[in-house]
Amino acid sequence: MDSISAIILAAGEGTRMKSSLPKVLHKVCGKEMIGHVVDAVRETGVTQTIVVIGYKGEMVKEVLGKEVETAYQEKQLGTGHAVKVALPALSESCDTVIVLYGDTPLVRPSTIKALIAYHNKGGYGATVLTVKVSNPQGYGRIIRDAGGHITGIVEERDATPEQKGIEEINSGIYCFDRRCLVEGIQSLRNDNAQGEYYLTDIVEFFKNRGIIIGGFTGQDPEEIKGVNDKYQLAEAQRALNHRNLVKLMDEGVIIEDPGTTYIDKDVAIAADTRIMPGTYIEGNTTIGSDNVIGPGTRITNCSIGNGNEIQFSVLRDSDVGNGCRIGPYAHIRPNSRIDNDVRIGNFVEVKNSHMGNGSKASHLSYVGDGDVGMGVNIGCGVVFVNYDGRQKHRTTIEDGAFIGCNVNLVAPVTVRRGAYVAAGSTITKDITEYSLGIERGKQAEIKDWVIRKGFRKD
Ligand code: UD1
Ligand code: CA
Repeated sequence: MDSISAIILAAGEGTRMKSSLPKVLHKVCGKEMIGHVVDAVRETGVTQTIVVIGYKGEMVKEVLGKEVETAYQEKQLGTGHAVKVALPALSESCDTVIVLYGDTPLVRPSTIKALIAYHNKGGYGATVLTVKVSNPQGYGRIIRDAGGHITGIVEERDATPEQKGIEEINSGIYCFDRRCLVEGIQSLRNDNAQGEYYLTDIVEFFKNRGIIIGGFTGQDPEEIKGVNDKYQLAEAQRALNHRNLVKLMDEGVIIEDPGTTYIDKDVAIAADTRIMPGTYIEGNTTIGSDNVIGPGTRITNCSIGNGNEIQFSVLRDSDVGNGCRIGPYAHIRPNSRIDNDVRIGNFVEVKNSHMGNGSKASHLSYVGDGDVGMGVNIGCGVVFVNYDGRQKHRTTIEDGAFIGCNVNLVAPVTVRRGAYVAAGSTITKDITEYSLGIERGKQAEIKDWVIRKGFRKD
């Protein structure tokens, strides 16, 4: 294959977004729009990717990988001007250039590849990826001659009423012969409704020079949808989410209600895991097989094994092994490691802790900064008192220990193997193996107190 460079335009502010964030940094399914476009381009095997940055360019640069080059457009004078700014960065060896806009996050690598193939096959000076839509509003309209070659692209603002009726639109994705592009860019002028240098006017120049412009019509209008405002952002989110869900279902994941399930692109889930309604799975999460996740669960950056049941719970930056039951209403906070066959029940919060195989915290507990061994029972209402107001300390509970209800474990403290802690105790000293730790006032009884007080009603 020839050496291909990609130029991605991302310098605009995106005024229609009404946001302090540059447009291309708005996230769609957990990833910035520009990240989706860069990923798509890289998957087509281009040899160089140049992103044109401008408005809050440093912020945009920060989210781009190291393999991506940037060119800086100081003033946003139009898409044609933005491409011009990138031209000096093109590598010597490149003879084909693809241009994309950073606000079309749904584009598929397969479509870009098909565009390049069509361009090469036809030997065109430039090829435009077009698509037919029933509502072309806001897009540049494609003008073709009798032979089907493209002779113009007219922006909405500059279009006649008749041209506005054209349903074939410009996707903003193009493939150029490098020499044609360099020459054509120099020719652009800004005498239009916006006073901008439109990249689309390059078509006019090519036409006058007798350079033939190919028009490759994509099959799926959805994938070239540009995001210009928050409504279109929501539409892109819904479309990409749906695409992620379909891919997972193809791979054997059961998704009960795609309408209320939200899964990021980089999430991996093995076959026969069931995702129940109202569930969000985000970031770099991997989930094994035969789990039941949800309903009403949010999992972010976690690694989950096989055969777990997790419902109505929130889990973040943590690992879960196999065969665990978590929730309803459990909160697993960052840096926790839950091994196998662990039970974490309702209203239990676990933070920065390890729970060994077969341990249980079934009700209403806080396990913070704890190292809990295997087969430990943590009773209802146990609190790991990890914070002295200045520093966090760890609590260690060894294998087989039994912590009664409503116990405070004041860290740093260790409960040794097989020890018991009596309900209601506040434990401040270590407890030795197989001993009972008890810290409680002795129970007293005042005889006939109710009668003497006159409180008895019968
Ligand atoms: C553009 C096309 C239109 C097409 C549509 C597809 C032009 C003139 N129009 O319109 O034909 O149907 O996209 O979505 O090209 N940008 C810069 N620097 C600038 C101006 C823009 O980097 O000076 C970037 C923006 O950040 C954005 C992209 O170029 O990512 C497109 O700009 P935008 O203003 O959204 O163009 P549209 O009006 O949508
Ligand atoms: Ca746009």
